[in-house]
Amino acid sequence: MKYLLYIIAAGIVGGLIIGGVHLLRVAQKNKKEMAQYSGEEVKLNKKLGKVLVVYYSLSGHTRQIAEIIKQETNADVYEIKTIEKVDTTPWFYMTLREQLKEKKYPEIKQDFPNLSKYDMIFVGAPVWWYTMATPLYSFLQKVDFGGKKVVPFSTQGSNFGTYFEDFAKQAKNANLQISQAFNNLPNDYQKEERNKVVQWLNQL
Ligand SMILES: Cc1cc2nc3c(=O)[nH]c(=O)nc-3n(C[C@H](O)[C@H](O)[C@H](O)COP(=O)(O)O)c2cc1C
Repeated sequence: MKYLLYIIAAGIVGGLIIGGVHLLRVAQKNKKEMAQYSGEEVKLNKKLGKVLVVYYSLSGHTRQIAEIIKQETNADVYEIKTIEKVDTTPWFYMTLREQLKEKKYPEIKQDFPNLSKYDMIFVGAPVWWYTMATPLYSFLQKVDFGGKKVVPFSTQGSNFGTYFEDFAKQAKNANLQISQAFNNLPNDYQKEERNKVVQWLNQL
């Protein structure tokens, strides 16, 4: 019994150390990446036409990026909303993983904007288990982009996995443009994050 407790304690300590090292590495990588956006405020030098930003966000990070795109391009914004609240019980990570595996995507509200009105459509969501969050799968199953310019973006802890490949497979008749992935960052990187968004917009 005593040895079993030692093994469990060692497992917990080991897990905490591995988790801590991972977080430190991610923070260092973010610092290095963001250093390239730390200069003066980047200005938008492109006209992107009439822009729509479609996004899903569970905890607000993707919304933040959608807001920056909106502010910079004067875009209309459409938030993908699930009919039922997404489960946020302590084990919801595992529940969502199962749903992704079983391709069980939630029902979403279908008051979609008329996509044909727009010259460019940004579409963003969080990465869940190395792919797109399930509500984005639901959205992509329901729409046809009809040859419009579509610009995918993601937000994630550190690893977007196959998000963009999966997006490309699901987005019907999308004329795909340069995508961008945004790691979650502490608040003191706000200027850098905006510069990263605007630099990306300038490449489109
Ligand atoms: C169920 C679940 C799975 C996740 N899987 C990943 C992942 O595979 N890779 C990653 O870097 N971050 C992952 N994350 C972190 C989110 O992608 C990240 O926090 C994202 O910015 C959240 O966006 P939101 O605040 O707009 O909901 C996951 C989060 C959840 C809730």
